Amino acid sequence: MTRRSIGIIVNGVTGRMGYRQHLVRSLLAIRESGGVALADGTTIWPEPVLVGRNETKLRELAERHGLTDWTTDLTSALARDDVEIYFDAQVTQQREKAIRQAIEAGKHIYTEKPLAEDTAAALDLARAADAAGVRTGVVQDKLFLPGLRKLKRLIDGGFFGRILSVRGEFGYWVFEGDWQPAQRPSWNYRAEDGGGIVVDMFPHWHYLLEELFGRVTAVSCVIATHVPERVDEADQAYPATADDAAYAIFELDGGVIAQINSSWAVRVYRDELVEFQVDGVEGSAIAGLRNCRIQHRAVTPKPVWNPDLPATENFRAQWAEVPDNEEFDNGFKVQWEAYLRHVVAGEPFRWDFLAGARGVQLAELGLRAARQGGRVEVPELNS
Ligand SMILES: NC(=O)c1ccc[n+]([C@@H]2O[C@H](COP(=O)([O-])OP(=O)(O)OC[C@H]3O[C@@H](n4cnc5c(N)ncnc54)[C@H](O)[C@@H]3O)[C@@H](O)[C@H]2O)c1
Repeated sequence: MTRRSIGIIVNGVTGRMGYRQHLVRSLLAIRESGGVALADGTTIWPEPVLVGRNETKLRELAERHGLTDWTTDLTSALARDDVEIYFDAQVTQQREKAIRQAIEAGKHIYTEKPLAEDTAAALDLARAADAAGVRTGVVQDKLFLPGLRKLKRLIDGGFFGRILSVRGEFGYWVFEGDWQPAQRPSWNYRAEDGGGIVVDMFPHWHYLLEELFGRVTAVSCVIATHVPERVDEADQAYPATADDAAYAIFELDGGVIAQINSSWAVRVYRDELVEFQVDGVEGSAIAGLRNCRIQHRAVTPKPVWNPDLPATENFRAQWAEVPDNEEFDNGFKVQWEAYLRHVVAGEPFRWDFLAGARGVQLAELGLRAARQGGRVEVPELNS
């Protein structure tokens, strides 16, 4: 067995996503499971190079995991021959500049979403990466979640017949930060720092809708900042300038209508933090992060509207659980493994910068629809 080491810059590793999902649950987890095996017997072995702004945090984090390779100097890390991949999990606003630097250094690039703050910049990054011949990828983790994999299996198996509509409900209460600390970083609530739920979540909705149901052709959207003032990590009150809720309708190729509510100002009365109800002529499903339930047309009850009487049916009990039928690994890790196989062995990987740019485009057009009111068409974005 040959081990193929590959140096990977992990920039923004001290952040929530950089540390937990990408370093610990993906790259270190890949090492714990023996590396990524290729068909020819080679094993890809990630060697993380931790990059950040704060020396103390980096040293402490590296020591915690027995790692020694860390630096606050991105330029010198990019100049290393043994580093082949640049990965970015910084705050969104810092991303474009760093990715441009990585393209110039000739590195392959994998990044958190959104790829950039606007479509023009995202498309430009896609074109520059293409011209430089580097292999790119953007995180689309929700595609690899068990609940959505099971939903995809239902679609592929023809369970729904003709799909009519999708209704997504996402969100939970993010504390204002005064009497209980907020559970998300404060930059997310400041537009000037790249925050906002549309920019954050629409890239996710884009790849989910496109991969599962069809291309998004138009968007209508209403946004709100329901909580106008919050308290940050330093206990300072600040005006929340970004949208914290979005109520959107997406029209898809083939006629499916998708309606998705996204909100940081909603309390959860659901089984999971995100759930999608898919209604088809022959059956319906409710898919969440882990679970997926179905109701077939043959067992669909016939409710009769009569508010004078208490409901006699337990509607929730009329759905059947879709079995796992396989073992699901962490979604971020699965996508990392696919990206590493793409870089090292040239295996196909369709979640590239152009796919990321389409997600950014949907966010931009969603905001435009919200500002001008009404419906905005989504033109096809090509390289
Ligand atoms: N895929 C997902 O489900 C998902 C979920 C949450 C966030 N994200 C994305 O991941 C990225 C990071 O989000 P997070 O929640 O981990 O944020 P975070 O605030 O926890 O981490 C941000 C990281 O960026 C670094 N950074 C670099 N320059 C900075 C600057 N000028 N100001 C502040 N921080 C700076 C910080 O040191 C830190 O390491 C964002 O682009 C976000 O959109 C993705």
